[in-house]
Amino acid sequence: MDKNTDFNDMTARKILCIGAGYVGGPTMAVIAHQCPDCRVTVVDVNAERISAWNSETLPVYEPGLDAVVRAARGRNLFFSTDIAGGIRANDIIFVSVNTPTKTFGAGAGMAADLQYWEKTAREILEYAESPKIVIEKSTLPVKTALAMERILNSRGGDVRFDVLSNPEFLAEGTAIRDLENPDRVLIGSRETAAGLAARRVLEDIYARWVPRERILTSNIWSAELSKLVSNAFLAQRISSINAVSALCEKTEANVTEVARAVGMDGRIGPKFLNASIGFGGSCFKKDILNLVYLCRTYGLDDVAAYWEGVVAINEYQKERFVLNMMAAMFNSLAGKRIALYGFAFKADTGDTRESPAIFVAERLLAERAEVVITDPQALPNARIWAQGLTDRGAGSLFETGAGPKIAFVEDPAAAAAGCHALAVMTEWPLYRGLDYERIFRTMIQPAFLFDGRNVLDHERLHAIGFNVYPIGRPPLTHF
Ligand code: UDX
Ligand code: ADP
Repeated sequence: MDKNTDFNDMTARKILCIGAGYVGGPTMAVIAHQCPDCRVTVVDVNAERISAWNSETLPVYEPGLDAVVRAARGRNLFFSTDIAGGIRANDIIFVSVNTPTKTFGAGAGMAADLQYWEKTAREILEYAESPKIVIEKSTLPVKTALAMERILNSRGGDVRFDVLSNPEFLAEGTAIRDLENPDRVLIGSRETAAGLAARRVLEDIYARWVPRERILTSNIWSAELSKLVSNAFLAQRISSINAVSALCEKTEANVTEVARAVGMDGRIGPKFLNASIGFGGSCFKKDILNLVYLCRTYGLDDVAAYWEGVVAINEYQKERFVLNMMAAMFNSLAGKRIALYGFAFKADTGDTRESPAIFVAERLLAERAEVVITDPQALPNARIWAQGLTDRGAGSLFETGAGPKIAFVEDPAAAAAGCHALAVMTEWPLYRGLDYERIFRTMIQPAFLFDGRNVLDHERLHAIGFNVYPIGRPPLTHF
């Protein structure tokens, strides 16, 4: 095929996604659902994950996902491990592989680890026999598209590749809603004739269900950077309100009231101002550190320090939560049994990546407390985390001397029985409707409740007899 073939001359509706994770799977399911005439294939190196996508128990828990997958799978949505075949057969290739924080060498702990992404680029080059539009879906450092182009064009052959950046802004737990009704879709391209043509192909796919005015286009570097900056801004709001929560606890101000007052200013807005135990999830910390590393690379140390502060406050907030627990419970947690209500990093997901609950559980275990973990969706991942502790040999650090150190209990009321304290880690709505009078009676007295999400009715719990410690409000105690 001629190197200058115009994609507009082609049907260009055969779509591949490399990477069947939290982003690739749901995104492709929605594209297939919204575009029944497109054929969408999702491939992954992880055969177990692919077979889960082909089963009744999907590997990702997301409200509404089952129905979308069920409607399209086998019709125009396919999950496979045949990466080479997928590359050959499709014209539009989304790359949605993981780009975790580097754990080794230069930039360890900060920079994005691009090895999976680069391997994918090389695979595309190896197997492509016809022109491809290659779309960065994974969150990447700005200028990665340049490296992608250099790898893809390194063979100097006939096959033409156009690289686009189309960052995904979906949030877990609301992925299907976000994909079906996005605030915006961002498509960045080279501003050459070929780049603009490739951009139009992708615009036309989204325009099947997204109003044109919400489809933004930009140069490719702006698109790459906008994703990092969006996450940095969102995380910054949480760190701002969490920093204020510490001050509220000292001054008898109420952080919820402050957030409401501040958020009613139309310039600030009310969303993302819930003080919490700290933000988690696979994106915020990783993306901010990535941004910090980028700034340092360009010699912008003051800018880097500014953004680094957002992560520092998040660490402070998590640590503060544990220290508050310890201070409240007579400065000793050894041998105490504490139920963690929720292990997912937020409600409506089973994902535990960077969950503040992991931080809290590990700190509690290090203080030789016992933890009882309950969560409606995240117990499988919690068990993997616990197994990881044992594999790392860290288990011995957490010896308590008596009984199991970590227990998993599905029923939250049963999880609390025999505990000295409850700590809400995740804002699952089900925790609001529990029979706390009964729960209180099954706990060791004095019973403590630490609400890391400010979701429970603190006055009522106090009236029942709990010593209640919210975030950003004075505690309600019986001492
Ligand atoms: C985030 C971005 O929202 C999304 O646009 C991007 O594509 C990926 O990263 P996600 O990590 O799925 O999405 O969840 P999000 O809803 O942003 O929550 C992140 C963390 O912040 C969670 O731990 C959540 O509990 C916490 N959070 C959120 C707060 O503590 N307070 C808030 O007001 C909002
Ligand atoms: P995200 O949250 O960004 O979707 P995940 O870790 O959930 O990230 O998913 C990324 C997926 O990419 C994983 O299922 C992983 O197996 C897959 N993956 C990584 N490298 C490759 C590769 N070279 N080819 C195909 N799939 C890959």
